[in-house]
Amino acid sequence: MDQASTLRQMVGKTEPGTATQIITLTSGKGGVGKSTISVNLGLALAAAGKKVLLFDADLGLANINVLLGVVPKFNLYHVIKGHKELEDIIIHTPEGLDIIAGASGYSMLANLSDKERASLVDAFESLTGYDIMLIDTGAGVSSNVVGFTLPADKVIVVTTPEPTAITDAYGIIKSIVLVAPDKQIKLLVNRASSSLEGKKVAERVINISNQFLNVRVDSLGFIFDDDSVPKSIRRQKPFYLLFPNSKASSCLDIITSRILEQELPKRSESGIGSFFRKIFAPSI
Ligand SMILES: Nc1ncnc2c1ncn2[C@@H]1O[C@H](COP(=O)(O)OP(=O)(O)OP(=O)(O)O)[C@@H](O)[C@H]1O
Ligand SMILES: [Mg+2]
Repeated sequence: MDQASTLRQMVGKTEPGTATQIITLTSGKGGVGKSTISVNLGLALAAAGKKVLLFDADLGLANINVLLGVVPKFNLYHVIKGHKELEDIIIHTPEGLDIIAGASGYSMLANLSDKERASLVDAFESLTGYDIMLIDTGAGVSSNVVGFTLPADKVIVVTTPEPTAITDAYGIIKSIVLVAPDKQIKLLVNRASSSLEGKKVAERVINISNQFLNVRVDSLGFIFDDDSVPKSIRRQKPFYLLFPNSKASSCLDIITSRILEQELPKRSESGIGSFFRKIFAPSI
């Protein structure tokens, strides 16, 4: 059985939504701003009164901790090996955003024993009380990245106005649609030089997705290309905290209110455990 069929079967088994809204950020091209946006969006959602858990699921070097200037001693690896409880590795920020640092490389997670996988799923199932879980993934169409989009209630595809980023955004949308045709896909244009550019880029991706994939992609808006972003990264403090009045922060406020307006109805079961059951299922 090819991988797409395996994934499609898993999606078929997916139970309807969950109490914790799961939002996965992804992109086709790397370096378009996913991690920066995840951290700052997490803070903006927390500032709006939501309980948010940010999970750094980047395949390569986990860098959310770098953006926040924190040094996690432990990560998922230690939970899997039974050295730590999941609660012990969660980083609590003073702003109310909770973070789970990823294990370095998911090949390790893909090769879990049944016992390790079960204990990880149990651990995530015990995490309750979060309104939103944000997942920051790596870029590209690898099964790991696409896998993290599958059980999400909403996938945010990030692109920049660069032609290569636009083409790759279309590519990742195509990969997602292949395995999850009904997924809610939102487009976020980062580093726009003007609101017109942001709008045009969004329209382009939305139109080609509609025309060639027959899929509806909604625009979540854009974030200006803004010097306060690299400045804040150099200072290892999120721009939303360091420059709350910057153009990037204002854009993020608009995006946050759009996400909250589109909030899903609350349901009874916490979705985090079932999310991880799907991600770390032996077949993926
Ligand atoms: N709105 C913006 N304005 C100016 N620069 C930006 C903006 N957003 C991101 N950047 C720059 O882009 C760089 C890459 O951002 P980031 O690491 O968040 O991308 P990524 O998509 O997570 O990358 P990867 O695919 O490697 O995980 C940042 O170091 C920052 O300097
Ligand atoms: Mg990143």
